[in-house]
Amino acid sequence: MNESSVKKKYQKKIKLLNYYNKKYYNENTSEISDLKFDELKKEIINLEKKYYFLKSKESPQLQVGYRPSRNFKKVTHKVPMLSLGNAFTEEDLKNFEKKVINYLDKNNDFEIEYSVEPKIDGISASLIYKNKKFVIGLSRGDGKEGEDITSNLKTISDIPKFISSKDFPDEIDIRGEVFIEKNDFNKFKEKFANPRNAASGSLRQKNPNDTKKIPLKFIAYTFGHEKGMDINFQNDFLKKLKDWGFNINPLNKVITGTKNLMSHYYELEKKREDLNFDIDGIVYKINSFKIQKRLGNVANAPRWAIAHKFSANKGKSKIVNIEIQIGRTGALTPVAKIKPINIGGVVVSNATLHNEDEINRKDIRINDEVIVERAGDVIPHVISVDFSKRNKDSKKFSFPTKCPFCGSKTFKEFNLTTKKEDAVRRCSSEGFECEKVSIEKIKHFVSKEALNIDGFGKKIVEKFWDLKFVRLPQDIFNLDYNKIKFLDGWGQQSTNNLKYSIDKKRNISLERFIYSLGIRHIGLENAKLIAKYLKTSLNFSSLSKNKKFDELLNIDGIGETQINSIKEFFKNDINLKVINELNKCLKVNEVKFIKKTGSLANKTFMLTGKLEGISRAEAKSLIESNSGSIVSNVSKKLNYLIIGDKPTKRKIDSAQELKVKILNQKEWIKMLNKRG
Ligand code: IVH
Repeated sequence: MNESSVKKKYQKKIKLLNYYNKKYYNENTSEISDLKFDELKKEIINLEKKYYFLKSKESPQLQVGYRPSRNFKKVTHKVPMLSLGNAFTEEDLKNFEKKVINYLDKNNDFEIEYSVEPKIDGISASLIYKNKKFVIGLSRGDGKEGEDITSNLKTISDIPKFISSKDFPDEIDIRGEVFIEKNDFNKFKEKFANPRNAASGSLRQKNPNDTKKIPLKFIAYTFGHEKGMDINFQNDFLKKLKDWGFNINPLNKVITGTKNLMSHYYELEKKREDLNFDIDGIVYKINSFKIQKRLGNVANAPRWAIAHKFSANKGKSKIVNIEIQIGRTGALTPVAKIKPINIGGVVVSNATLHNEDEINRKDIRINDEVIVERAGDVIPHVISVDFSKRNKDSKKFSFPTKCPFCGSKTFKEFNLTTKKEDAVRRCSSEGFECEKVSIEKIKHFVSKEALNIDGFGKKIVEKFWDLKFVRLPQDIFNLDYNKIKFLDGWGQQSTNNLKYSIDKKRNISLERFIYSLGIRHIGLENAKLIAKYLKTSLNFSSLSKNKKFDELLNIDGIGETQINSIKEFFKNDINLKVINELNKCLKVNEVKFIKKTGSLANKTFMLTGKLEGISRAEAKSLIESNSGSIVSNVSKKLNYLIIGDKPTKRKIDSAQELKVKILNQKEWIKMLNKRG
């Protein structure tokens, strides 16, 4: 059988399996005996084992036993459910502490006390209690919005439905992990790839009676919003959870200093196998709530906690090929196609080789036997080559000097800050001139944080590209739906759905619009800053006309790198055309003037010199949380220059010249307190 007929046969079987799965899990009907179903599953797995090129996200090796149901109601979390930054080494931990100490402006000998909790590898859930009663239970979802899975959570006996303790807050969102114990999982091994899948599959059943079939457990460890709680330390909170009737992890501890964290880490790693629940690391949380509050969050993770991951699962495999992938910014990433192997319950057939330097450093070649590592949600990567198994005629891998997709020259940038050549090689056309870059740019354009068009995933971008339906982002808004409805696998209903999802996104915020363009170095955070400053899409599109790029330097957080990248972007005629056309099909909303109520409302500040007992980052966050804003240039737009120890003379001089008010630290603090 040739490759294409194998693929066809395989796809047909996957389709059939999905059909039965859907019937079984979403409609509670079964058109096939369990035996026949298992046979079908086995046939698919055998095909995957035999032919390395077969892969599907829907492989039964990856998604066992359940299809997520789309039928749960979405509910916004009052306090977002954040994720955690990762540490893998002692150095990562030390860096974490260093950042905390700098932020708090403490001396290096400042000792930090941590609440140390095993990181159970399950599914997090948020349980909302009102007047002592469990009322709503949500999944994490995307962190901002979860799914209402109350009835399923109610089947878990570990979750108290009513709490009689006098000191239980009037309202609280208790958060923790839903998981399945190892000995229980053994009974369901056939059905699920790993305990985490079992817990998640079971939690997302449409019918709570199906959830009940799998013995789920719950361990509580944190909270979201609360009313009427008076606790100052995480370890005290954990103790309280126990008093209130929740299970907490018996291995929770309080530890001070990274040295002690490390010895505890090694100890627990040794014990890991013998525990009755899967853990993939340890969570360290700064114990004091007061310090937690000062530190706050970055993007979607707290500054006050980190997950120390256990060493990853490893496996041996062979590199079948090295392929070059290209990203939306033109970066060329080598990827090793390996013989599929199962690492910790997940089938791995791709492993990143990061960049050209990495290939050279590790001397990685096609046909090499290699060790591959997979750690949690991190992309699998090649650790090392077994040189003893290498063929004598093997050749060094030569990284393409021309873009494999458009033929343009590839180059490595010289980094002005590090004075070194970049490790990443790029396609010099970096714009819509390179076909593959264009596809990646369009994928980015429709992605979750950009336009977020429901049902318009990467696969559809690729398909529509092949059919020449889309070449530039604006084409998405001018699709010929009459053609789409006759495509294989489409019909009137799905075409209508697609049109509906696209039209819904014609109304878009300026920050998403800027982010969606995929300008290098302009991620969501920077796009937000720029949008907030420029306010309208017109101001943004006329940046190049008015040559006002340097004005963006006023934005705290935007520097030369970002501005050069924006300049480059606007130099390109196709990019200008894209912006112009998009403005015709979209309604880009102005950044609304939100009435600021904080004590520093509508005032701009600039800091120079070192403040006492507070880092620049914390001072900035204090100003912003009181509705003031930080600028990074002395100009007429600046209201106050705050001076600390050893200020820059030039800044003071220009402030005086422009009659900007100058404050010392005391005066600034007074201002904060007085108005607040
Ligand atoms: S605290 C802001 N504590 O780890 C704090 N999380 O990557 C976030 N997890 O989604 C949660 N054990 O599913 C916290 N003791 C623990 C945890 C824990 C496991 C999971 C949780 C969360 C993920 C964060």
